[in-house]
Amino acid sequence: DWTMGAYKDEAIRLIREQVGDKKVICGLSGGVDSSVAAVLIHEAIGDQLTCVFVDHGLMRLGEAEEVVSMFRDTYNIPLIHADEADLFIGALEGVSDPEVKRKTIGKLFIDVFQKHAHEVGGAEFLAQGTLYPDVIESVSFSGGPSVTIKSHHNVGGLPEKMGLKLVEPLRELFKDEVRALGRELGLPQSFIGRHPFPGPGLAIRCPGEITRDKLEILRRADAVYIDQIRKHGLYDEIWQAFVALLPVRTVGVMGDGRTYDYACALRAVTSVDGMTADYYPFSHEFLGETATRIINEVKGINRVTYDITSKPPGTIEWE
Ligand code: XMP
Repeated sequence: DWTMGAYKDEAIRLIREQVGDKKVICGLSGGVDSSVAAVLIHEAIGDQLTCVFVDHGLMRLGEAEEVVSMFRDTYNIPLIHADEADLFIGALEGVSDPEVKRKTIGKLFIDVFQKHAHEVGGAEFLAQGTLYPDVIESVSFSGGPSVTIKSHHNVGGLPEKMGLKLVEPLRELFKDEVRALGRELGLPQSFIGRHPFPGPGLAIRCPGEITRDKLEILRRADAVYIDQIRKHGLYDEIWQAFVALLPVRTVGVMGDGRTYDYACALRAVTSVDGMTADYYPFSHEFLGETATRIINEVKGINRVTYDITSKPPGTIEWE
């Protein structure tokens, strides 16, 4: 697309102009936004860029490994992999309030990022994959007084604290434009088309207190659900799909035994920018087949529900 081609060239020119010969550090989350920002900046300034991937242990099945291999092996972008799962999961012990969870993760994220960013030495810029909707939603909720619905997980305040200047090449773009830019940069469609994933990761898809066991159950259920969606050719029609593991156990029957396991909720929505969303109208056949697979394949879950709440009044994530 020629428009994005021109946008890319202009963005590269602006990055070079802003950064000069200085070093840039970029926080990678594994999502499309920070990845597109990193690849764009790498194209502009090469190895003046170092990426820091703060691995909070709240990623989906196999996801952290994919991020590391894509950046190191495919793109040869210098990458620091900060594997800090124990730190994050330890800090979240006993924490069940959604805002406290988000703030705990956000604060630790900043500490860890800062620690590793110092290893780079002499960086003057911090790059972020902030999009236009992030700029708006974290400030106010349209239609009403300025109310923060959820504290957004980003590195707000970090640039000043570290004495770094911000590079935010995606600040004027919506999600679909970021994807077009990513394609323009040669990122694989399988990666570009990935559903958004929130900074606090699986912690906000596990309402209430998280534990390693719950995270593991959630990871496996989510992988089965996404596999079902891909097999039925529905992945690209959906903005975001995931499993939320509910903090409740219910009674079931399997073979000739009684079970007492967790219930989960499947979530799938369509949206253009994440600011409003409709639940996805799966067929009953799809839902039934998926429920059967999850219960058969994931030890620890014996009940599956489907969330039919749109946004508003619901939010996309459960916390
Ligand atoms: P909600 O749940 O507010 O989510 O309807 C709207 C979109 O934002 C994503 N989301 C986040 N992304 N950090 C992020 O980077 C966050 O803290 C965060 N919280 C929600 C969510 O996945 C959805 O796409």
